[in-house]
Amino acid sequence: MIIFRTKAELAAFASETRRSGKIIGLVPTMGYLHAGHMSLVDTARAKADVVIVTLFVNPTQFGPTEDLDRYPRDFERDKKMCEEHGVDVLFAPEAGEMYAADSSTWIEELDLAKPLCGASRPAFYRGVTTVVGKLFHLAQPDFACFGLKDAQQCFVIERMVRDLDFQVKIIPCPLVRDDDGLALSSRNRYLSADERSRALSIHRALLEGRKTLEEKGIAVLDDVCKKAVEVITAAGGRVDYVEGLDRATMKAPGADCREVLLAAAVFFGTTRLIDNELVEVKR
Ligand code: PAF
Repeated sequence: MIIFRTKAELAAFASETRRSGKIIGLVPTMGYLHAGHMSLVDTARAKADVVIVTLFVNPTQFGPTEDLDRYPRDFERDKKMCEEHGVDVLFAPEAGEMYAADSSTWIEELDLAKPLCGASRPAFYRGVTTVVGKLFHLAQPDFACFGLKDAQQCFVIERMVRDLDFQVKIIPCPLVRDDDGLALSSRNRYLSADERSRALSIHRALLEGRKTLEEKGIAVLDDVCKKAVEVITAAGGRVDYVEGLDRATMKAPGADCREVLLAAAVFFGTTRLIDNELVEVKR
């Protein structure tokens, strides 16, 4: 496995790889890898000649009061996991390498990025789309894998790719859970044992919501969200949002909605967790 620290090295490698006609699969991450990330890597490995994983805790997607400084990092562990999963290139730049000190250009998606995490974390998606756009330019991937735990992020990136004609196929990959149902996240390591067991209420509440929506249809969506808030609050969570939106528009579902994204963001202690269920709308 080759490790690159500079943009120039990655871009030169990617150009040479493309010239030789090889398929490049990209997996952008912020490191502190877990089985969810590795499922993206395995998907990329199965489809690409060359798999590039990026490890970069992107400062532009964190708000001033968020956890940038304490975001977990363990390069040696990430490196070993990538080697074990057959990654070809690890790109792990410093922030000063990725962004010029006077960087003043952004990529911003202004529609799908508005609700949910975009409403709670105003800087978040602008930072994500900007860094992902830069990574696409540098790594020149044929396709890139993103996890559906961050479903809204996936949809925003798909929209960016469509609108700005990036020549890359986005492959959304299934959300991965721990055996007890907690959605895998690098931030789970912040949770105490007590918070972790209480946080299982998020998945429980969303599953209950899915079942009700499947039985009764989207007419009961508001009640489903209220009930989920009750279940999570009773377990000690501080709910940021529980909402059901049309997956295609990220707006309240109308008559033509085919799939609802039932999504939650919840604080347990100081840790903000997100989770979701994608629910097909029965006609
Ligand atoms: O999902 C993440 O880990 C990040 O938002 C991403 C896509 C790597 C951009 O920094």
